[in-house]
Amino acid sequence: MSNRSSLKSWQSLENHALEMKQQHMNELFSLDEQRFDKFSIQLPSMLLDYSKNVITGKTIDQLIALAEECDVSGWREKMFSGQRINSTEDRAVLHTALRNRKQTPLYLEGENITDSVESALSKMKAFTEEVRQGQWKGYSGKRITDVVSIGVGGSNLGPQMVTEALKQYSDDSLNVHYVSNVDGTQIANVLRPLNPEKVLFIVSSKTFTTTETMTNARTALKWLVAASFDDKAVAKHFIAVTANKDNAVNFGIDEENIFELWDWVGGRFSLWSAIGLPIALDLGFEKFIELLEGAHEIDEHFCQAPLTENAPVILALLSVWNCTFLGAQSQAILPYDQSLHMLSAYMQQAEMESNGKSVTWHGKEVNYPTVPSIWGELGINGQHAFYQYLHQSNNIVPADFIGSVESVTPVQGHHQTLMANFFAQTQALMTGVDEQQVRADLKATGRVDEYIDKVAPHKVHKGNRPTNTILMKRISPRTLGSLIALYEHKIFVQGIILQICSFDQWGVELGKGLANKIHQQLDQPKVSINHDSSTNGLINFYQNIISAE
Ligand code: F6P
Repeated sequence: MSNRSSLKSWQSLENHALEMKQQHMNELFSLDEQRFDKFSIQLPSMLLDYSKNVITGKTIDQLIALAEECDVSGWREKMFSGQRINSTEDRAVLHTALRNRKQTPLYLEGENITDSVESALSKMKAFTEEVRQGQWKGYSGKRITDVVSIGVGGSNLGPQMVTEALKQYSDDSLNVHYVSNVDGTQIANVLRPLNPEKVLFIVSSKTFTTTETMTNARTALKWLVAASFDDKAVAKHFIAVTANKDNAVNFGIDEENIFELWDWVGGRFSLWSAIGLPIALDLGFEKFIELLEGAHEIDEHFCQAPLTENAPVILALLSVWNCTFLGAQSQAILPYDQSLHMLSAYMQQAEMESNGKSVTWHGKEVNYPTVPSIWGELGINGQHAFYQYLHQSNNIVPADFIGSVESVTPVQGHHQTLMANFFAQTQALMTGVDEQQVRADLKATGRVDEYIDKVAPHKVHKGNRPTNTILMKRISPRTLGSLIALYEHKIFVQGIILQICSFDQWGVELGKGLANKIHQQLDQPKVSINHDSSTNGLINFYQNIISAE
């Protein structure tokens, strides 16, 4: 099996990158007036402008040749048809089946999983309506007013990010809260104002073994039983979403109250399943379906559009271009829409847990940089924090700017200011300003030469910093579904190009295992510990303070 870096297209790109490192986007724009038309893609829910990258038509041709040599289309077919492309866990990867709104049959080991998905959706619908309409009663006969979703990682970030993003679409039926951290401060703060008679807990965990989630779930259970004096209250107040039914039942959750997850749904791709139950409870089931429809729209685009016009493919190729070939080490996600304030946190898991790896799917060490670290913050806030670095540091950080034509909460005068900045920033990052211009501008304001000599070098912006702009019409369940699916497929294509298994996460295991051992030692302070001197020193310091108190 060939190593990616020995592919013909890869080697051409390496040579091409040497040329392109000498190019400035200003020159590329002045040479080609059609750049925006050539390098943008319009989808029903958004416009993607990728013209502000250090690319030419030749770059795109070579990147597409790479995608072809890596058989992106073949892998896409393997994913959608349920082949076990999660090779290290020997699983299919079928989150797309969860939003297959055309309901085309899909057989996995003889079972039509479209039927299973539809019946899970029907169960979600009935449950959502019962709770939202107040027919589902707590142990004392009162209607549910608050939902507390307990989960972490993929069992939290997706639903919470979507709930936050779609707040304007929620009515007053229910208040939805999230608890993910094992730091007791979070659950204590969430529970403090709530009335146990009116709270519904959703314990979301694919494995139903995750320490943090189980710890929070046990605390919630104690809180409920302490208030109700009744173990049977659990049946009215606890729901589980899991692929491990036995563990949920052993925990004490009624079988009826368990929503199924399948092993072919990866945690970080699971918000489309019953893991999205808090979203449906918050918005109503119809809007949850709209979210699925938006994602399905992108699934169809991803499957049908030619690679040259395929937004997730292009985004993935650009990321490989910027990071692997041009050497960028991080990438910023910069939403200019308050509703997307959790998007970069969500994208960190989506991309870094998927592709933050350094062996190929054959288990061989890769000899090229893989994915960048992902970080970011809301538009305007970031401008007053780290944009200095984006504009003038000697590290180039490619950035995705995501904005909306219309605000979901129009307040007069605000949106235009926001969007003026949105457009200005990508322009400034691209064009920069050279010393000659800086000097001319300072002169025009009447500054003396001595001052100009001193300040001019500090005001130079080299520009040439790559950005993609994603302009949505408006954030809605449908457009948000499309945006998330766009990135999911981008991550998939990136994994294929880099020859990485995007669907496992072995890198989180080592720390988890050591934490379990250390936890036992913290519980039994007398037991002698034998770690490295740093870890021993830290644990001793911690325990000495505790035992002195
Ligand atoms: O952080 C590791 C991880 O396994 C994630 O991949 C997953 O989303 C999260 O933990 C939660 O896992 P579970 O849903 O099994 O509780």
